[in-house]
Amino acid sequence: MPEIFINGAAVQAEDNQTVMQAAKAAGHFIPYFCWHPQLSVPGNCRICVVEVVGDGGGWLDIACNMPVTPGMQVLTDSDKVRQRRKDTLQFITLNHPVDCGICDKAGECTLQDYHYSYNGEPSVSRDAKVHATKHYDLSSRIVLDNERCILCTRCVRFTREISKTNALGVIDRGDHTLIRPVEDGAFENDPYSDNVIDICPVGALLSKPFLHKARVWYLKPTPSVCPGCERGCNINIWHRKSEWKLKSLDAKQNARIDRVTPRESPDVNGPWICNKARDLAQVFERARAVAPMIKGGPVALDVALAGARRLLALAKRPVALVSSWASNEELAAFAATIAPRFACHVKSDQAAEVGEVVQDEILIRADKNPNTAAARALFPALPADPKGAFPADCDLVLVWGEGFSFADLPPKARIVYLNSWLQPENGHADIFLPISTMTERGGHYTNFLGVVSGFEACFARPAGVVDAAEVFNALSVPEVTTVQALA
Ligand code: SF4
Ligand code: SF4
Ligand code: FES
Repeated sequence: MPEIFINGAAVQAEDNQTVMQAAKAAGHFIPYFCWHPQLSVPGNCRICVVEVVGDGGGWLDIACNMPVTPGMQVLTDSDKVRQRRKDTLQFITLNHPVDCGICDKAGECTLQDYHYSYNGEPSVSRDAKVHATKHYDLSSRIVLDNERCILCTRCVRFTREISKTNALGVIDRGDHTLIRPVEDGAFENDPYSDNVIDICPVGALLSKPFLHKARVWYLKPTPSVCPGCERGCNINIWHRKSEWKLKSLDAKQNARIDRVTPRESPDVNGPWICNKARDLAQVFERARAVAPMIKGGPVALDVALAGARRLLALAKRPVALVSSWASNEELAAFAATIAPRFACHVKSDQAAEVGEVVQDEILIRADKNPNTAAARALFPALPADPKGAFPADCDLVLVWGEGFSFADLPPKARIVYLNSWLQPENGHADIFLPISTMTERGGHYTNFLGVVSGFEACFARPAGVVDAAEVFNALSVPEVTTVQALA
């Protein structure tokens, strides 16, 4: 392990590390644009320059591409270093429009941050800025502002090295250099394309759904887990901070998913997610079921629960179809309360949609449910022919979550249905109970590798909605009065 000295402090570096890696691991800050820990090193932005102390006055070199050598002495913030970074920023912003006031990256832009740290002065150039394409449709999801692009090539390398679509490239030379997609539409079909928005160090690559929707400092990231497949990628769900609530007539404006970004997790998804997680608003913002019902007629929650409890007490051969979107905590609550009364089978709440990538070698898994592993550790899977789950004298089925066709239920069995969404089946159940979604409660999922990831509530659950665990507790308690507190 070579020992090096950063700003006079001894650092034990790893063999084959660069100065950037050793400095970062030891907590020393060096700015960077083009370097990314998961991508190859192009060394093109030059902002990471550091001073190496040596004979003849030493020299300046880029930290991201300089290997450590024993005894090396590095200064990360000397006068020479600061002057070189200032000069570099003058070049980088030579043709930059500096339109931070209308840029979605403001608040997260390292160019803005480093400008104020190392430059802070207007351009010294007397020439007019060279203009480029201001609004280029890179895909149906992403818009490219070439004037803001600093040509770090992170986006290009991402498609070559991570998503492997080779979908982006660099064309032309000098002031006319542009990032462009290849012509066969590979970027449009890259299921990981939105990661380039996150890794673009400036506001050149922007999400169309999020374009000019909110300043990021008005939003709060809540740690969550993508339920889009059994990988269970760790994510942040961004939504409006309560102190920055919009005075809007539409209350949903303050309780909506504004954007989704990856939450780095080395054991699950690294720093990446697929586009399905970015589109979770489309899943969670479907019309909600908020009224408990008996045979399609709205009733109070305690009346619906009392009805379900009666059906359960009378049932001789009840079957439960367990949700693969249920959290570990909900599964434990079910197992500890009413599960012993049922023959239980785990169903798939969601299947792959038409046109969706079903499985790949990167992250995407064929099972489109986040907690199949934990559910199947407790209960057997639903047979391939779902009708095989029901004995001839089955007289009650508890259906928990989406994804099961009511046409496959035994015709004479009574149905207790727990679901979050407004769907026609709700009215066909004997008892319907509207339950919360994972964005309205905390919990954990266990992915197919056995890694447990936690998620937190983003929003309050709507009036009339209960947590499934509360339903199970209520159904296991004989006294009606104990459930009235849930209403
Ligand atoms: S668009 Fe962004 S990520 Fe791509 S080269 Fe330009 S600055 Fe870098
Ligand atoms: S790979 Fe699966 S869990 Fe990860 S973001 Fe995509 S759909 Fe979600
Ligand atoms: S981060 Fe080192 S040259 Fe860009």
